[in-house]
This record gives sequence, C-alpha cells and structure tokens, in this order.
Amino acid sequence: MSTLVQLARLDEIRPGQMLRVEHDGHAYLLANVDGEILAADDTCTHEDAPLSIGALHGDCVSCSLHGAVFNLRTGAPVEEPASEPLRTYAVEVRDGAIFVALPGDE
Ligand code: FES
Repeated sequence: MSTLVQLARLDEIRPGQMLRVEHDGHAYLLANVDGEILAADDTCTHEDAPLSIGALHGDCVSCSLHGAVFNLRTGAPVEEPASEPLRTYAVEVRDGAIFVALPGDE
C-alpha cells in the first residue's frame, strides 16, 4: 500500500535541479531530469550525507561527501563507495503539483 503525497510544486524545481523535501521526519530528494521528476531518499546509503547537495548528472546523482553515484530511476549504486541501493518512489505530476507514492501503514 502506498499513499500519494504532495511534496512540492513543479515550478520549485527547474530542469537539472534537485530539491530536498522533509515529510513526517523523512528526507526526500526530488530531481528534475529534462522535465521529468524523479524521487528517492535524500540520504546517501554510504554514510548518510544529503544527496541534494551533491550534483545531478542526467538521471544520476553524485554524493558530495565521498563521490558515490546512484541512478535515480532504479536507486542502484553505480559508483563506489556506496553498495546499498537508494530507495526510489513513483511520482505523479498533476496540475503543476508533484505527488510521490509513499509507503503507507503496512
Ligand atoms: S556519504 Fe555519500 S558517498 Fe559517502
């Protein structure tokens, strides 16, 4: 079960930019990849640095702390030192609002 939650508006993230959004004590990363919004956890799986202060290269984000790179579509770590995948989330954009499918109570 997941719940669609509005985390931001489309006009808050320009193409090539990222945004950190906190919701219920959890930090999410939203990225605008050529107009498509991708969502993942903002916390690097290596040593917990915020990925939103890293750099976006296409659909991959690089961590500013030790340089791990994650694919934001799959969450897969594509460059070390991270080895654990990043959690990613489905996104819907409706009427300029960005909704992210967050896990509900299980
Ligand atoms: S904390 Fe991200 S690569 Fe180390």
